[in-house]
Amino acid sequence: MACKLLFLAFLALSLGDCALGALSSSFYATSCPNLTNIVHAAVQQVVASEPRMCASLIRLFFHDCHVNGCDASILLAGASLEQNAFPNINSVRGYDVVNNIKALIEAQCPGKVSCADELVLIAQQCVTALGGPSWSVLFGRRDSLNASQSAANTNLPPPTFNVSALIANFKAHGLSLQDMVALSGAHTVGKSHCSSFKPRLYGPFQAPDAMNPTFNTSLQGQCPNVSSSDNNLVDLDQLTPVVFDNKYFVDLLNGTGVLFSDETLAIGGNSTAESLVWTYASNQTRFFLDFVTGMINMGNESPLQAPNGQIRLNCSRVN
Ligand code: HEM
Ligand SMILES: *[C@@H]1O[C@H](CO)[C@@H](O)[C@H](O)[C@H]1NC(C)=O
Ligand SMILES: *[C@@H]1O[C@H](CO)[C@@H](O)[C@H](O)[C@H]1NC(C)=O
Ligand SMILES: *[C@@H]1O[C@H](CO)[C@@H](O)[C@H](O)[C@H]1NC(C)=O
Ligand SMILES: *[C@@H]1O[C@H](CO)[C@@H](O)[C@H](O)[C@H]1NC(C)=O
Ligand SMILES: *[C@@H]1O[C@H](CO)[C@@H](O)[C@H](O)[C@H]1NC(C)=O
Ligand SMILES: *[C@@H]1O[C@H](CO)[C@@H](O)[C@H](O)[C@H]1NC(C)=O
Ligand SMILES: *[C@@H]1O[C@H](CO)[C@@H](O)[C@H](O)[C@H]1NC(C)=O
Ligand SMILES: *[C@@H]1O[C@H](CO)[C@@H](O)[C@H](O)[C@H]1NC(C)=O
Ligand SMILES: *[C@@H]1O[C@H](CO)[C@@H](O)[C@H](O)[C@H]1NC(C)=O
Repeated sequence: MACKLLFLAFLALSLGDCALGALSSSFYATSCPNLTNIVHAAVQQVVASEPRMCASLIRLFFHDCHVNGCDASILLAGASLEQNAFPNINSVRGYDVVNNIKALIEAQCPGKVSCADELVLIAQQCVTALGGPSWSVLFGRRDSLNASQSAANTNLPPPTFNVSALIANFKAHGLSLQDMVALSGAHTVGKSHCSSFKPRLYGPFQAPDAMNPTFNTSLQGQCPNVSSSDNNLVDLDQLTPVVFDNKYFVDLLNGTGVLFSDETLAIGGNSTAESLVWTYASNQTRFFLDFVTGMINMGNESPLQAPNGQIRLNCSRVN
């Protein structure tokens, strides 16, 4: 409201950090025109030194946006906050990278760019840097003043979810079955801990489940049936683990999906999900189009906008 009045009164002036309802690709056009270049350069360095870190940053975007919207709540440091929720603790990584890039942004555009927008832009740049599609990111989100561990525990889907539970989880966030299947394609990069899928190897088993027997043997070798193997890491995509392509869907059809929540898309009994898996496995162009749609939809999840929230200077704590 305050922004609208300002808009009417100063039509010709720059509206730098004013939110006018919808997010906009030109939100920082005057207040931080070099933003995309700053993040692009930083992400190139991240990929050059550790490609998997870009996978971790894409996941960080999901775990932020899926809990009370893309508001950087996951970045707030604190044992009682989202970082220590079950799906995040000892698993989500990349907080330091986000803080370091934020410092680069602050050096050129002090106090202008929210951590929430930064994270969305980093995720897009990482997808592109790993070989995936490119798209224009919408901006204008603000940073939360708090974070909720219980909301993270309730909202983030565990790897034991079947296709109907996944559909329901995404639907509760305004995301379609197509968004859910396409966005799961982010598992074309990155790694999983053995603990996230060991029940598929040794029980307790879930149904329906199936795995390529050769792959099952290979995973048992990487994740022996002892708790000390829980933190071993396995590639989520067997064919091109650090390339953002459609090979994840080829994996699912070959019975080499790693998580139960991956393979269930192909064999869980929902024919709409199954046909999307077949489509994406054979048509990368179509996967990329639907993935971008999903990322934009997820990025629009209940954004916090002015006058609510703030622009954090240090993403790890409120100002
Ligand atoms: C559909 C529901 C989803 C479930 C149940 C799920 C679950 C998981 C699990 C269990 C892991 C491994 C964590 C670990 O063992 O430490 C993982 C990794 C990952 N997830 Fe998801 N995920 C889902 C959707 C998504 C979405 C929508 C994205 C992004 C658009 C995403 C991106 C990633 C990436 C890139 C990794 C690898 C991270 C790394 O290497 O650090 N996931 N996911
Ligand atoms: C934009 O940022 C990049 C990366 O930090 C820097 O190399 C470049 O000089 C900046 N350009 C302008 C016009 O400030
Ligand atoms: C966090 O802040 C929002 C908006 O300011 C408020 O609605 C919500 O109740 C707060 N949540 C917690 C867990 O304090
Ligand atoms: C999927 O999971 C839900 C909740 O865990 C369960 O009630 C349902 O029976 C499962 N559906 C199938 C087809 O296995
Ligand atoms: C795996 O280990 C558990 C607990 O030690 C044991 O109960 C189970 O029989 C083992 N399963 C297999 C297939 O070896
Ligand atoms: C993996 O192999 C074990 C036998 O070693 C079997 O009990 C289990 O069902 C297999 N897992 C899947 C998902 O097929
Ligand atoms: C299917 O999985 C098996 C076992 O991991 C592997 O040897 C084979 O190359 C895979 N085939 C395709 C087409 O991905
Ligand atoms: C698949 O899920 C969609 C969305 O929930 C639902 O409309 C459809 O009936 C499901 N199809 C099957 C075969 O279960
Ligand atoms: C792949 O998908 C694109 C985008 O939907 C479409 O234009 C194209 O015709 C599809 N290609 C094939 C071979 O079906
Ligand atoms: C940012 O905040 C965190 C958490 O309070 C703190 O540990 C860190 O030192 C701060 N970073 C900078 C550059 O001030």
